[in-house]
Amino acid sequence: MNRRMKKLIFATNNAHKLGEVQALLGDDFELVTLRECGITEDIPETAETLEGNALQKARYVYSKTGLDCFADDTGLEVDALGGAPGVHSARYATDGHDFAANNRLLLKNLEGAQERTARFRTVIALIIDGVEYTFEGRVEGTIATEESGSEGFGYDPLFVPSGEIITFAQMSAEAKNAISHRGRAVAELVKFLKTLS
Ligand code: IMP
Repeated sequence: MNRRMKKLIFATNNAHKLGEVQALLGDDFELVTLRECGITEDIPETAETLEGNALQKARYVYSKTGLDCFADDTGLEVDALGGAPGVHSARYATDGHDFAANNRLLLKNLEGAQERTARFRTVIALIIDGVEYTFEGRVEGTIATEESGSEGFGYDPLFVPSGEIITFAQMSAEAKNAISHRGRAVAELVKFLKTLS
């Protein structure tokens, strides 16, 4: 790795995610957005697994820039639905990122289900000097029978993490990040990156 620059591309245009990860990384690494390195097109995400998609995105950025980079992919895996929506979490109900429609469809597909266990899983794929690494974070929980809370996004109003009685959408961002899939995956990434610096 280029230790003078310590720049890392984060394959996202989500400023919120970028700020969150930058805060965890501290001053050792400077995160660069896709836009800042001239990638404005949608990056293909056509793999059938979270690992596959995260690697696909990181490889795409590496092939375009030759720079150290990482990408993430997240899915909600519901046991009674055979792991769905999983890698298709963003486009479960529609082609767009329609969170309300996704939540409605999830409740409908779980109507009457006794077993409501699920997990969020995030995979981060990192490429440093052409070498690939992956990191995972997960949080176990259950799918509630109705939506509660207005914080967060996506499936948060339906997801009750194990050991809690409230949904992610009823928690502060800080409380959620402390136990969330993404928080845990990023913590693994940061731990690894700190061994390099
Ligand atoms: P992404 O890979 O981070 O873009 O996540 C894919 C999809 O998973 C999102 O569009 C959301 O539907 C869902 N998702 C990811 N992270 C979360 C979360 O923290 N809470 C609720 N839903 C999430």
